[in-house]
Order: sequence, then structure tokens, then C-alpha cells
Amino acid sequence: MKPLLPDIASPLVAWQLTHGRHALPWQATRDPYRVWLSEIMLQQTQVSTVLGYYERFLQRFPEVAALAAAPLDDVLALWAGLGYYSRARHLHRCAQQVMAQHGGTFPRSAQALQELPGIGRSTAAAIAAFCWDERVPILDGNVKRVLTRVLAFEGDLADARVERALWAQAQALLPAQGQDMPAYTQGLMDLGATLCSQRQPRCADCPLQAACRARAEDRIAEFPRKTRKLKRKRVEMTWLWLRRADGAHWLLQRPARGVWAGLWSLPECADVAEAQASVQGWAGSATQGDTFTHVLTHRDLVITPWQFRFSGAAPSADELQQRWPGGRWIGPADLDAVGLPAPLSRLLRR
Ligand code: ADE
Ligand code: SF4
Repeated sequence: MKPLLPDIASPLVAWQLTHGRHALPWQATRDPYRVWLSEIMLQQTQVSTVLGYYERFLQRFPEVAALAAAPLDDVLALWAGLGYYSRARHLHRCAQQVMAQHGGTFPRSAQALQELPGIGRSTAAAIAAFCWDERVPILDGNVKRVLTRVLAFEGDLADARVERALWAQAQALLPAQGQDMPAYTQGLMDLGATLCSQRQPRCADCPLQAACRARAEDRIAEFPRKTRKLKRKRVEMTWLWLRRADGAHWLLQRPARGVWAGLWSLPECADVAEAQASVQGWAGSATQGDTFTHVLTHRDLVITPWQFRFSGAAPSADELQQRWPGGRWIGPADLDAVGLPAPLSRLLRR
């Protein structure tokens, strides 16, 4: 016998319309460019952080054509501080594909959107539901928490087949044809971001309390199930901070892959001794800064900044490029024009 699924759509839509979020800037539009931009920014970043970036981005790139035509460095500079920079590179490539392959208009279905760089299944569904009322389910981390609790879904989401089964459930829970897909989609996001939190869900206020099996069985903390654990690594490094008498910093653009891809940073040394050795023979004074930890998804970077201030003329860029290819002297006034990792930006501007 087919197990009966609860009707979550009706209470969720009603709740979203009365209690959900309505004043977010990307809710005031059905322009897929604007909705897409917001969904990419929101993928790993909180609403409160995204708001300022979103406005600045749209001012600089009001349409997909402007974004596609911009140099990647400009995009990365505007993205600096949002983190997860592969999103910015995919965003730029996606804009270029929309121009080159779709005549400047985002393709009009979740299925087709998913073919574009940086747009996964859930993001594609969110865009299609918000812009065109397409009946497709979203399933990001927050929504997985809500649905696994409502259904008391026992499977381990580390297993790809189990995750596919949850997608199928998410599809089956969609509102009937003609119901409000944007409100349903936003409602799932809002519920996951507010009431149905990881640690302290507020079930007494939840529109799904009558439908929720985890609540009925008092087993909320058991969901979602996921066994795989992140193995965190600790990586120590020394940043060699060469400083010219006029205040310019010697910066290098990082490779297109890896941490802070495409951003500008200081040369890295294994330890302070290596930093000291690399300034042998130059005139100036050294200061060792306080060691700090920068937490990334899979590792903790333990960074010691080691500053060397040239007292007289510093070596030319040509000379330094022998050792650090692609490096540049960048003056304080030009820092805004290059993308800097957030901790470096704080350090240089102190
Ligand atoms: N997180 C992901 N998408 C969102 C949206 N459209 N509104 C608020 N938070 C979100
Ligand atoms: Fe989450 Fe509680 Fe609502 Fe169930 S009743 S969906 S656990 S907030």
C-alpha cells in the first residue's frame, strides 16, 4: 500500500503569506537574473550579509549582459568577503553562457537552468518556482531538515540513493496545480531558517505541527540523519607581508582553484624562518604580527603575518616577479579594485 503523505502545502502557504518574509529585495521581482543572483549569493551566506552585496552587485551589473562583459577580476572584487569564491567564477561563466547560448535570456525551466554553471538542482528549482510558478521541489540543507522531520525520514543522507528518495518525497509533497508555488517555496525556506532550527525548533508555532511525525513521536533530534563527518585539517603558514616605504603591498593573485581562488594575497611561507630567509640582504625592519585562525569549510588556517618594511628603495616588480611570478605592488588606494580574502583585507586596512 502506498504510504499517505501529509498535506503540508496548504498550511505552509497560508503561514508564509501571514508570517513569512516578504520584504527581501529579490522577492519584489520575477526577473530571473535578479532571482538567480540572490539564490547564488544565499547558497552559503546569511540573508543579512547578502543584502548589501546584492544591491552593490546590481548597481554595477544591472543586467546579465553587463555581468558577462565584465572582467572576472571586477566580479571577484565585488564578491570579496562573501566567501566560497567558486560561486563568483561560476556566476560569471553562467552569465557568459546565457549570453552566448541563450541570447541573453535565462532558459525557462528548472531542467534547462540546471545545465548552467553553478546552478544545482535545488537552485534551479527555486528560480523556476519563483519566476514561473514551475512545480518543482527545492531541497537545500534547511529544507532537508524540515522534510526529514515532518516525514520522520530514517535514511542516511550521506547515501546518494537515499538522498534521491528524499527528492522524490519532496516532489510528492508539492502543492497541487494552481496553488502558490512561490509562497510554498519561500515558506519552506523561511520555516527552515526560523522555526525549524537545528537545535531549538519552535514546534508550538509551526504550521506543520499537526503533520510532523518527528514531533508526534518526540524524535526531532534524530533528524536529519547523515553519518559522514568532515575531517578538519589544521594548516599553519606565515604570510610574508612586504611593505614599501610609500605603503604599497606586494600581492600575488591566487590560482583559479583552491582556497580564495582568483583573489589577491601575500606570499606564503612554511614558517617565520622561511620568511626571514626570503628578505636576506634587503634593508628594512621586520615585525611579527599576532597569529590568528581563519576557519574554512574543511580546514583551519593558522596564519602568522610577518611584515617587512623596506627602509629605502624596494626591489622593482620585475625583480620580485622572478621569485613570485604575477606579483604586483599595490598601493593602499588600489586595494578596493582587487579581490582580497576577508582576513587579509582586515589586516591590510588596520
Ligand atoms: N535562502 C536561499 N534562498 C532564499 C530566499 N529566496 N530568501 C531567503 N533566504 C534564502
Ligand atoms: Fe520542525 Fe517542529 Fe515544525 Fe516539525 S513541528 S517541522 S520539527 S518546527
